[in-house]
Amino acid sequence: ATITIDASKPGNPVSPTLHGVFFEEISHGGEGGLYAELIQNRGFEEANIPPGMTLTDGFIVPPRTPHFSMPNNGVSDWKMEWPIKSDYPAWSYKAAGSAALQVSRTAINPLNNATPHSLQVDISNADNNNTASIINEGFWGINVVAGDSYKLNFYVRSNEYNGSITAMLQSEDGSTLASHTFTSANNTNWKRYSATLKANKGDKKATFVLLFNAPGTVWLDHVSLFPSKTFKNRPNGLRQDLAQYIADLKPAFIRWPGGCFVEGITIQSAPDWKQTIGPVEQRTGTYSPWGYWTSNGFGYHEYLQYCEDIGAAALYVFNAGVSCDFRSGTFAPDDSLQPYIQSALDAIEYAIGPVTSKWGKVRAAAGHPKPFPLKYVEIGNEQVGPRYAERYNVFYDAIKSKYPHLETIASMGIGDVNEYTLKGMKHVDYADEHAYKAAGWAMTHFDHFDKYKRGNWDLYVGEYATNAGVGAGNMEASLSDAVYIMSMEKNGDLVKMSSYAPLLVDTNDVDWPVNLINFDNANSFARISYYAIKMLSENRADVNVATDVEITQPAVKKPAFSGGIGLATWDTKTAYKDIEVIRNGKTVYKSDFINDISNWALLRGTWGVKDSALAQTAAGAQQFAMLKDKSFDTYTLKLKGKKLEGYN
Ligand code: AHR
Repeated sequence: ATITIDASKPGNPVSPTLHGVFFEEISHGGEGGLYAELIQNRGFEEANIPPGMTLTDGFIVPPRTPHFSMPNNGVSDWKMEWPIKSDYPAWSYKAAGSAALQVSRTAINPLNNATPHSLQVDISNADNNNTASIINEGFWGINVVAGDSYKLNFYVRSNEYNGSITAMLQSEDGSTLASHTFTSANNTNWKRYSATLKANKGDKKATFVLLFNAPGTVWLDHVSLFPSKTFKNRPNGLRQDLAQYIADLKPAFIRWPGGCFVEGITIQSAPDWKQTIGPVEQRTGTYSPWGYWTSNGFGYHEYLQYCEDIGAAALYVFNAGVSCDFRSGTFAPDDSLQPYIQSALDAIEYAIGPVTSKWGKVRAAAGHPKPFPLKYVEIGNEQVGPRYAERYNVFYDAIKSKYPHLETIASMGIGDVNEYTLKGMKHVDYADEHAYKAAGWAMTHFDHFDKYKRGNWDLYVGEYATNAGVGAGNMEASLSDAVYIMSMEKNGDLVKMSSYAPLLVDTNDVDWPVNLINFDNANSFARISYYAIKMLSENRADVNVATDVEITQPAVKKPAFSGGIGLATWDTKTAYKDIEVIRNGKTVYKSDFINDISNWALLRGTWGVKDSALAQTAAGAQQFAMLKDKSFDTYTLKLKGKKLEGYN
């Protein structure tokens, strides 16, 4: 090959903010992951039904076995169920000898009204030799490291309980790794108990135990255990290895908290940043559309602090009054928008407002009088279409009139920015294009960004990954990702920001096929794509120079976007409307707008289409693929009332 470089003609500069990171509460990325808390369901709130849902709803939960892949590898164990199976998930109990105990969740005499539930433990026939215990399993086990210390805090009230409480870390085989005894627990009012547990031995599958040696009734709440070492030693802090992986990318910004998480599985259950600040005992959890609760321990303040700690700008994505739930209406009514707007303005004020402002004062009281580095806000996640555009304009005006210097990002859905996705938007600072592609796509579409008109808006590739046909991520995926990044660099006059998605996955709870950093409770590793991004970020060019490559090129195999039972293709310009998915003769999904990612996410994860994928081809056509699922005999995909060509 001959490469000719002409440095005398500098071309597009490459954006210094090109590489950021995308955090979402998916696959336990935060709860049980980046957030260092070791106790699952510490506040006994996780049996709650997400606001806006009822027990009869149920929804499709993804398989809990690593690793599935979308859409090529068949997955047969998606199932329709309500994921909450116990009144006190992650907790269990045990009695020894003649002791007996009953355990129930109650909201009587709560520790606080925001998180009203506690665990009531009724103990009988117990003494030093006949004990009763309650046990927390952690997040697929607690990783206890020999020699390390763990900070324990919990709240107790009791009735006629004259015994002691022994807190223990126990190995899988039942031996004690660390323990501390609180000699008195006879208090009718809530009292906080604290101790440091030092482990004499280690076990990756340890459990946390509270042991009782007398009869009586004890109520427990907010049982919290943290490793004494957290990232930068922040209290209520982050897991060191995972936080360091992210810090080592030296991201220009961190996007938080999602993703579909921002939308909520219902509009009522969408995240509310105000419930993620203040004392951790009083933070109501949020139900992630990915099928589990987060305690909100890694809240807005902790997120902003982390941005500051690693020198990244903050990019906060807020709910624009739109959720994943289409049954009660995806959009909150237009006339009830004001609280959403106010919430966004308050969040901004919390981050950067003066200490004399209402929310700046709250930030200062939380120990941070200086403003945080909030630079960007995004209005909703993956919404697109005329109704969203109207809503976007209202938010945009409200934000810009108060904070003209803030960079504002418009969501564009999955796929290319086009006339439709931009239609009706008065001003766009950044358009957020999401790009999940098949292996090799980046090579065959190196000119992808060339087509965009310049001048009106900058591009933020807010979610990208090569995630089809690459298992859980492999060398081919990382080469594709690297080439994709190079095409962004080449178009540096347009593409100013990007973030790979998803960032983190607990391998015990895989909600998405390909992720950047894998972990369990004890181990973590970053995939090759991580190192590709790191290398390109650390060696980011300032400017493009005219380059001519002469090469005898072997034929490049065009990637196939394959589906199991069928693949439908239609033209994006003409056929957006009236999508209907019929399963076993019953309509399971109906929408007038399939390019809306929240609808797509519903199709995939929530509403019964077992595994599907929506992609955009070079020709501007949409492809929709579904895999065969044992529980569904037939699928029909109708578009504008007609059965789609090429689908069965
Ligand atoms: O990154 C996983 C999901 O992909 C995000 O939640 C959503 O925004 C996108 O569709």
